[in-house]
Amino acid sequence: LPRVLSGIQPTAGSFHLGNYLGALRQWVALQDSTEAFYCVVDLHAITLPQDPAELRRNTLTSAAQLLALGVDPGRSSLFVQSHVPEHLQLSWVLECLTGFGEASRMTQFKDKSQREGTGGATVGLFTYPVLQAADILVYQADQVPVGEDQRQHLELTRDLATRFNGRFGQTFTLPEAKIPQGAAKILDLQSPDKKMSKSLPPAGCVFLLDEPNVTAKKIRSAVTDTGREVVADAENKPGVTNLLTIHSALSGRSVADLEQHFAGRGYGDLKKELAEVVTDFLTPVRARTQELLDDRAELERVLASGAERAREVASATVATVYERSGFLPPA
Ligand code: TYM
Repeated sequence: LPRVLSGIQPTAGSFHLGNYLGALRQWVALQDSTEAFYCVVDLHAITLPQDPAELRRNTLTSAAQLLALGVDPGRSSLFVQSHVPEHLQLSWVLECLTGFGEASRMTQFKDKSQREGTGGATVGLFTYPVLQAADILVYQADQVPVGEDQRQHLELTRDLATRFNGRFGQTFTLPEAKIPQGAAKILDLQSPDKKMSKSLPPAGCVFLLDEPNVTAKKIRSAVTDTGREVVADAENKPGVTNLLTIHSALSGRSVADLEQHFAGRGYGDLKKELAEVVTDFLTPVRARTQELLDDRAELERVLASGAERAREVASATVATVYERSGFLPPA
């Protein structure tokens, strides 16, 4: 079976529609046909300052949401990144193969370090993509389901794998990014020139755990475009196109079909119907997340068994990498 690995940060407490439509929906779909490893990346989270109690709570809430969305621990290994120290062991070796200039070119680092202001960015934020490469390569993953914004990190991962293989002999599988058609980049509802993100003001970001009236209000207030017709035109009508993309992804109807459906009707009708489609989808997810959080012991058992399966695979890779790197095995 092909191997799949992906990760998600726990930092906002709740995931958002971009995370779901860009990545998590594929996580769930891929479980049937692959051997999947999915992790909540708490080590990546601390590349920006975190409150410790909140990080712990958000990590559990993240795991509960993944299960509520359909990640099935019977078929996939679901775990917390810091429970598998092999990620860090491989990361160091990969750091020593990464060029300083190469890491400096990562656009996410440039964006995030700018937001932190002069002197605010840490070395951890700088080496973040190398840890991500280790997350993937330590499982010899074939496929990595992610949204469009992770494409550059996947390119780096492949470059590092190729470099290690070239220098020390064939060791790593070259992973491929699996980026969905259509929903690869969901836009912020208030600033449809930017991707939906937890780091923009919350009015433009539909969190999965928002109350239904909050969700409806955010969709009603979405920035649309001049004109009146409900048609997709990414260039001139990014706001309306984004709403159609979200509708299509959740309702399963094609964008062309939706354009027909809304012919002769205005943006208000589109928003009203989309709010229903989104809240119908989210209501059971929220309820199930809460149920799962109410049984913390069971949630922790799922994560422990996921980490155990993950460590079996990861430790075998690290053993090979250490041996090829020339480290003396402990007697
Ligand atoms: P993160 O936590 O920012 O996002 C999780 C996933 O959601 C996707 N995504 C989006 N997709 C479409 N539209 C959007 N507006 C949108 N916003 C986010 C992301 O592309 C991602 O797939 N570095 C990663 C986490 C990570 C990882 C890994 C991923 C760590 N190790 C190994 C894959 C493999 C990140 O910060 O994702």
